[in-house]
Amino acid sequence: MRIHFTLNGTVRQFDCEPGDSLLTLLRRAEIWSVKHGCETGECGACSVLIDGVLTPTCVMLAAQAEGHSLVTVEGLATGQQIHPLQQAFIDTGAIQCGYCTPAMLLAAKALLDRNPRPTEADARAVLGGVMCRCTGYVKPVEAILRAAALLRGETPPLKEQAPTATRVVGHPEPKVDAVRLVKGRPVFTDDMHLPGLLHAALLTSPHAHARIRAIDVERARSLPGVHAVLTYRDVPRVVYESGGQSYPNPLPYDQVSLDSKVRHVGDRVAVVAAETPDIARAALDLIRVDYEVLPAVFDPDVAQQPGAPVIHDEADAVKIEDAQHNLATSVHAQVGDVEKGLRESDRVFERTYYTSQVQQAHLEPHVCLTYWDEDDRLIVRSSTQVPFHTRRSLACR
Ligand code: FES
Ligand code: FES
Repeated sequence: MRIHFTLNGTVRQFDCEPGDSLLTLLRRAEIWSVKHGCETGECGACSVLIDGVLTPTCVMLAAQAEGHSLVTVEGLATGQQIHPLQQAFIDTGAIQCGYCTPAMLLAAKALLDRNPRPTEADARAVLGGVMCRCTGYVKPVEAILRAAALLRGETPPLKEQAPTATRVVGHPEPKVDAVRLVKGRPVFTDDMHLPGLLHAALLTSPHAHARIRAIDVERARSLPGVHAVLTYRDVPRVVYESGGQSYPNPLPYDQVSLDSKVRHVGDRVAVVAAETPDIARAALDLIRVDYEVLPAVFDPDVAQQPGAPVIHDEADAVKIEDAQHNLATSVHAQVGDVEKGLRESDRVFERTYYTSQVQQAHLEPHVCLTYWDEDDRLIVRSSTQVPFHTRRSLACR
């Protein structure tokens, strides 16, 4: 279907599918300032101004934009001259990762368009629809009030810094990538679209503990648009540490990319690479897996009892502390004489505390992009990280 709406002052025509969200359409049109976050209307990162009102685009059909007027951050600057709001966000240090910044700028613009003299409470209220997991809201509120003053022709001073004896440390510095971030430039991994890019989808385990007796991927492999379907039979067994991110990878090495055994619900069973995400997902439905479901453990104390199911029974795991009792590793730390401290305490409370797995929950989706560059280096780029380079020989090993 074909739709028309005004985008940053110009009437534009777009082709889309009836089910396409406005977010999908705008990003397909390379309006990269519109960020892809939760897709459920909660984070606000995808918001644009529609007829002057901040509106999330992930929960709106593209067709609903027909005839309306949309403003994105690409429409804020005048030529090379950035908008006072953008400048104020830079000046006040209101940006960290910058993923929420475009939506914050638009929320602020909607406010200043109708109220040139907002109070701090007004500025706080208007940011209520945009989640920020890094900066918080103190600096963006300061930026909005500063921009309002700039737009009124005033020259507000930046907040006084405490005097220091240093020339750099303790003094405000604009972020090196601040201008690109306030312009909503495609600097995030999810913004990168390379020609011929294949999309991956994972088939994951529905069982907490199971062995793969058989796996049939032939129908998935023959689906048009599918380039590869990988299972444990297709990838080298390279053990690594599931919980570590640093280099060198800390012990224990308790994981391989794809295994013939799954050890938790959501564990990886197969990977599909296809020309579109939809084809990749369709291929997952064609994979048939025969599982031998094994007894599972769901409690850390039960898991360490004699006779509990052994989750890591593989022979090639390295330095698991006590595989027979499902203890991967343990950490001991002591500051001072703990026993003495306990003896001398007025009260001693002994409790056991449990917490669920914690995710740092950045707004940008988890994305990983890999490609060979012109110097034959394997580039691996993942969410909120700068690219790092690996020699092809190292990647192959
Ligand atoms: S509100 Fe649309 S991506 Fe989160
Ligand atoms: S600066 Fe707001 S999400 Fe990172």
